[in-house]
Amino acid sequence: MQVSGQKIVVLGTGGTIAGTSAQAGDNIGYTAAQVGVAQLLAAVPGLQALAGGMLEAEQVAQVDSKDMDDGVWRALALRCAHHLADPDVRGLVITHGTDTLEETAWFLHEVLDVSKPVVLTCAMRPATALTPDGPQNLLDAVAVVLAPGATGVMAVAAGEVHAARYVQKVHPYRVHAFTSGDAGPLGWVEEGHVRLVQNWPVGQTGQALGAIKEGAFSADWPWVEVVLSHAGGQGRGVDALVRAGVQGLVVACTGNGTIHQALEAALLRAQEAGVRVVRATRCAEGQVLPKPGDALPDSQGLSPVKARVALLLDLLQAD
Ligand code: SIN
Repeated sequence: MQVSGQKIVVLGTGGTIAGTSAQAGDNIGYTAAQVGVAQLLAAVPGLQALAGGMLEAEQVAQVDSKDMDDGVWRALALRCAHHLADPDVRGLVITHGTDTLEETAWFLHEVLDVSKPVVLTCAMRPATALTPDGPQNLLDAVAVVLAPGATGVMAVAAGEVHAARYVQKVHPYRVHAFTSGDAGPLGWVEEGHVRLVQNWPVGQTGQALGAIKEGAFSADWPWVEVVLSHAGGQGRGVDALVRAGVQGLVVACTGNGTIHQALEAALLRAQEAGVRVVRATRCAEGQVLPKPGDALPDSQGLSPVKARVALLLDLLQAD
């Protein structure tokens, strides 16, 4: 249901959805981020018509999302904020690689003032595959933008709609690669119709982006690393990171936030030295349940990679 005169802006950032391979049908030996977003849109039959002819493309970046960095996030957040402030824009679609999509989704959720839909989409097969999944995902993403009442930052892939907070890539190859774990998807896109089973996600106030814009938006962002607790853990890696100037550490813990004793001792030393340390669980589902007297704070349900984004933004605002 297109409101007349309202644009949908599709921001391209790269990924497998824009990937090409020398051999049609090669699903793993391709190069991500090759096809421009305008060309991608033009190749999807019925996409412009679905958007009432009001689809606009803008290339913000062209990267394999494993290489996503602060510079692209900065540029993307600013372009999103610019378009969202335009009364003629109904919502945004962002084409993105699958590998760090959940991190970008959480970053945008945290920094944008989202009273309109911002839908990230992607593909597990390159544009040159025998059966690319990108075209259907693009159609579904536009259908979500057009759905009545749609707001918030979401991801759409393989017919499912996920909230930025819970979406997680859980498979390196299957087309159905994303889940929202315990929370479940927000809904599904079926033949262009969105069947919602949860409320649209509630967006932020946009204060974070305001703070970043005024302050440290153009400066170097704080250095925040993720370390993993595992059998045979040691503290030497963390000690080296602290000596090298790391400002924040997220530890992907075993089980309910437990850490190998050698690593934990180093993390406590790091915290004592002024480094912010946060515990998340390395389990694919569930979250750390805090206990009174915990020496290291927990990530309040965020996965390790999303906890890294949250800590980064905390440190940015504190600068
Ligand atoms: C990427 O994340 O950019 C490459 C992998 C993918 O999109 O599936």
